[in-house]
Amino acid sequence: MAKGVILELHRNSGNWAKTVEEIVKLERKIFPKHESLAKFFDEELRKKNSGLLYLDVDGELVGYVMYSWPSSLYASITKLAVKEQWRRQGHGEALLEAAIQKCRTRKVSRILLHIDPLRTPALNLYKKQGFLVDTMIEGYYSSDRNAYRMYLDLDAS
Ligand SMILES: CC(C)(COP(=O)(O)OP(=O)(O)OC[C@H]1O[C@@H](n2cnc3c(N)ncnc32)[C@H](O)[C@@H]1OP(=O)(O)O)[C@@H](O)C(=O)NCCC(=O)NCCS
Repeated sequence: MAKGVILELHRNSGNWAKTVEEIVKLERKIFPKHESLAKFFDEELRKKNSGLLYLDVDGELVGYVMYSWPSSLYASITKLAVKEQWRRQGHGEALLEAAIQKCRTRKVSRILLHIDPLRTPALNLYKKQGFLVDTMIEGYYSSDRNAYRMYLDLDAS
């Protein structure tokens, strides 16, 4: 795996605008319109209880994970993506582990996420990290796209 460093994007940092711009471009490329956060990324990130980690390899933004902790009861993984040419090198897993670690520090007991069951790479990754399927939500993404709701209990893991 190429060396890289996982960084947290800070609201007041000088690289905020450039980093958000890069991620918005990736969102548009990787996700269909109805699943893309591109339009709202900046707004989402400015919310008090949300965070973004990104992987930088020699100055290139290779992937990112967005998470939030709406209450003391649970946190959510809202987005995870790795650039296509950088996949299958352990970067997605490293980002997810880092986000789980961040959620642990918020002292929440459960992490929730939603995933299209047809997104096999992501589904396998979440299962590998111990997430379990809670329920299937029909029409979650669009009229013909469902989602699994998955959870990871932190005190049990
Ligand atoms: C999901 C995603 C982030 C995985 O990133 P990645 O860097 O390629 O993943 P890793 O190399 O860290 O793989 C970790 C595990 O994920 C699973 N996995 C990853 N790619 C897979 C593939 N093509 N097929 C099956 N399982 C896969 C495996 O369990 C793998 O563990 P292993 O290497 O021991 O088999 C990446 O495929 C992606 O960006 N997909 C598009 C966006 C997306 O679907 N995001 C999730 C919804 S928000």
